[in-house]
Amino acid sequence: MKKLAVFGNPIAHSLSPSIHHMFAQSCGETISYEKIECAKGNFAQALTAFFADPEAIGCNITVPFKQEAFELTQSNCDRYAMQARAVNTLLQADILRGFNTDGLGLVSDLVAQIGSLQGASVLLIGAGGAARGVIKPLLDTGVSELHISNRTFEKAKRLSDALGISQVKAMTGDELASQQYDIIVNCTSASLTGELPELGTLKIGQSQLAYDMVYGKQATPFMRHALSNGAAKVSDGLGMLIGQAAEAFYIWTGKRPAITEVQAALRDI
Ligand code: ATR
Repeated sequence: MKKLAVFGNPIAHSLSPSIHHMFAQSCGETISYEKIECAKGNFAQALTAFFADPEAIGCNITVPFKQEAFELTQSNCDRYAMQARAVNTLLQADILRGFNTDGLGLVSDLVAQIGSLQGASVLLIGAGGAARGVIKPLLDTGVSELHISNRTFEKAKRLSDALGISQVKAMTGDELASQQYDIIVNCTSASLTGELPELGTLKIGQSQLAYDMVYGKQATPFMRHALSNGAAKVSDGLGMLIGQAAEAFYIWTGKRPAITEVQAALRDI
């Protein structure tokens, strides 16, 4: 039996156990996958206790512990975790290794929804950890430009300056007026509190896809706004969640689960 878990706080509503049990069933793996809510300040100890069991081979990490998981494993991280400075997947092999599969999860869902991203122009709204984590995987797909706009412009500017990559540019509200984007991704946490991020002069109706990283039973304010302003397609982040889980499952088992049926099943939960 492979023992797996997700660490976070809060964690009660996590869909990860359901997703990984479906993956395991379809791939012929026997797993246990539990939710572990640990107190802030107790994360490292909780991890050590979990991995004391020889059957424990890996885990997912979610809010608010991704940065701490990176700090614990930063000399043994993949390049996505290094760039994001955050880890969402751990593998206990000879040593504890850190990965960040969030960006690959987003990319796989965007490709599933609109095809190749080669040459696409992309706007990220938000400049926190969620945005930082998807930049490198998006650049790897060959997008032509990756702009970042944020309520606090200086934070977007710091993020783009730190990368120093010509396709990545922080945009002020005024600069957005003259831009059109194929894909607009809401990476802010505004949807979690039912808010629409300030979009200024953004022409959201020109986009092929307006994507919210948040998911839920109902369309988020951002999705509703994009639809009513003419965006060709809108999506929540359920596919990204399943995509990042599929990459983690592959890291742990070497098997690539099919994700379409899982997505349909989760919509019914
Ligand atoms: P995460 O790790 O989830 O990205 P974070 O690092 O706290 O969380 O970043 C949250 C992001 O959402 C930030 O870009 C934040 O904007 P500020 O930098 O101006 O704080 C953005 N955000 C949160 N609530 C928002 C709102 N109501 N409208 C617009 N942006 C919002």
